[in-house]
Amino acid sequence: MSDSSPNGVPVSEAATLHLDGVEVAIEPGETILDLCRREGLEVPTLCHDDRLEPYGGCRTCLVDLEGAPRPVPACKTKAAAGMKLEASSKGIEAIRATMMDMFAADKKKLIAAGHTHFEDRNRFIGFNPSDCILCDRCVRYCDEVMQCNALEHVGQGDWGFIQPTDGKSFLDTDCELCGGCVSTCPTGALYDKQTTHEPDKSTRTVCTYCGVGCVIDLETFEGKVQKITAEVGVGPNNGDLCNKGKFAWEFIHHDERLTQPLIRGEDGKLHPTDWDTALKKVAAGLSEVKEKYGPDALGFLASSRCTNEDVYAIQKLARAVIGTNNVHSCAAT
Ligand code: SF4
Ligand code: SF4
Ligand code: SF4
Ligand code: FES
Repeated sequence: MSDSSPNGVPVSEAATLHLDGVEVAIEPGETILDLCRREGLEVPTLCHDDRLEPYGGCRTCLVDLEGAPRPVPACKTKAAAGMKLEASSKGIEAIRATMMDMFAADKKKLIAAGHTHFEDRNRFIGFNPSDCILCDRCVRYCDEVMQCNALEHVGQGDWGFIQPTDGKSFLDTDCELCGGCVSTCPTGALYDKQTTHEPDKSTRTVCTYCGVGCVIDLETFEGKVQKITAEVGVGPNNGDLCNKGKFAWEFIHHDERLTQPLIRGEDGKLHPTDWDTALKKVAAGLSEVKEKYGPDALGFLASSRCTNEDVYAIQKLARAVIGTNNVHSCAAT
């Protein structure tokens, strides 16, 4: 085992360090950023995403490390015993502010180079290169989490830019339209094209498209969904979604969506009715079939959009009320 940290700071036996003059214990493997967050200290980040390998590209999370020749990125530097860190001094805050100014300057060069607009025929992901700060989160997410190669960082330094691979449409790359690049983008350069208003409310719920049970946030404006997001560190999905959970929400407010029960009349057409009438009609129809042909002449299929509780109630209806085991949910496959 090495007797010094990556920054040359001697590692003592006691696993503690000094953060803004206070001695704090270190947890194995944590970075300075992890430690600061655990201690309730806010350190700004731009290129960091907890789901990705530490990158250390933007330098907005710099902290002062005694003995190091220059400030170190908190997101990429492991906490080591004996370190003396300054994470909220006036000096370090001034450096972080300068880094933010430099991003603004970078953008001007990007605009001058003409990489300010990207038109794509895909319906879901929009890209506004003039808002891009080249943090590479989108490219790294696509590579590390999705194992896709749909985005690339072309060129270097101030003249570099992001684009779908080979400058094609997202639809002509191996993009799976998971929207993870949109979610991880810290500036909104990558955005959901379906959004028409800035959301004014967020409601946490569970995606009902399949049995994985991803935790999602419905971002709404005046009661209408504008986009779907997912929080990193929450639920089985840890901020990740598939294309259905992320983008397939248009049906919620679709004009042709059924909003009340319909009963087919003598004329062969469907007519709106109330729930009481509709449920009585269904009960009468099921009873009639059961009486004439027996319970196994009936089968029950639950939609994968149903909750577990709904599906439980449906199998109760099938087994206990009708008396058949012909029951299934497409979420089971
Ligand atoms: S939507 Fe997903 S697969 Fe497509 S470019 Fe973005 S991260 Fe990659
Ligand atoms: S598009 Fe967003 S995530 Fe990608 S490099 Fe630009 S700012 Fe970063
Ligand atoms: S987001 Fe995709 S994987 Fe997650 S629950 Fe919905 S359909 Fe399943
Ligand atoms: S967030 Fe640490 S270098 Fe970018």
